[in-house]
Amino acid sequence: MRVDGAWQGLVYRWNDTQTDATRVLAGETVDMDRVDVDGNAYTQEYLVPNQNQCEDCHRRDDVMHLLGPITRQMNRTVVRDGASTNQIDWLRAQSFFSPDPGPGASLDAFVDAFDDTQDLNARARGYLHANCSHCHREGGYSGNSGLYLQAEETDNEHLGICKVSAAAGSGTGGYLYDIVPGDPDSSIMPYRMASTDPQIKMPELPNLLPDDEGIALIREWISSLDGTCDSSTP
Ligand code: HEC
Ligand code: HEC
Repeated sequence: MRVDGAWQGLVYRWNDTQTDATRVLAGETVDMDRVDVDGNAYTQEYLVPNQNQCEDCHRRDDVMHLLGPITRQMNRTVVRDGASTNQIDWLRAQSFFSPDPGPGASLDAFVDAFDDTQDLNARARGYLHANCSHCHREGGYSGNSGLYLQAEETDNEHLGICKVSAAAGSGTGGYLYDIVPGDPDSSIMPYRMASTDPQIKMPELPNLLPDDEGIALIREWISSLDGTCDSSTP
């Protein structure tokens, strides 16, 4: 909710008949019935977050922000009034923008991370932006780690390539670098994405299950990267 010019995260949980929702202040755990991409049923332990946890992802430089409505994510084909159209162009036609950002075709866009006809680098960078960059950016919750995963980041070390991890011990799996080009098995990033240990797993919140498709994508991307890290670094 927008209250006095600032966003606030308020948590509500629907009742089982989906007729009413009540406010949850302290957080809860709920078992949810799910179906995976192969159609197999499984139960997911869902953590209903407490309000303070909203800030971990939505606050940056001490201000709560919206995360979804960004150009790269909005710039895609949608169906409006029964016709396929570029979403940015449709919003421009409704006079949503001031100043006018220009046509969608002239702006950056994420590709579908799981469409393997698209460029691998663009798929991986879009995935990392959408799933990690709200914490992993300057001023974000894990800004101190120096790992910045926005799609616009151009510095290889901030992206994790040959970056010595700020974390120690189990958080590294005994590996040195967040990403070793060409070698996902020696890279901290996919190791932490695959972990179910709350002290290790990434994203830190709120999932308890690793994202197997996402891990496979990041491993494939790391395998495709060229270069060698200076192994003399401690
Ligand atoms: C683990 C990180 C994370 C946490 C914790 C989190 N969010 Fe979000 N939230 C996101 C991301 C990422 C998006 C954008 C999703 C998208 O791009 O479609 C989002 C989107 C939203 C949106 C839609 C508007 C927007 O910003 O795009 C709302 C509303 C929202 N979150 C509310 C909450 C509330 C309330 C809480 C706390 C109960 C919360 N979120 C906790 C990551 C998080
Ligand atoms: C809710 C916030 C949050 C999200 C979302 C998140 N992380 Fe993190 N991440 C952290 C924090 C905090 C740290 C630093 C503390 C630590 O190492 O546990 C960290 C550290 C890391 C590190 C070690 C970085 C270093 O150089 O020390 C890696 C690698 C990492 N995260 C990968 C990821 C990936 C990949 C994703 C998305 C799939 C992700 N994280 C999403 C909070 C988050």
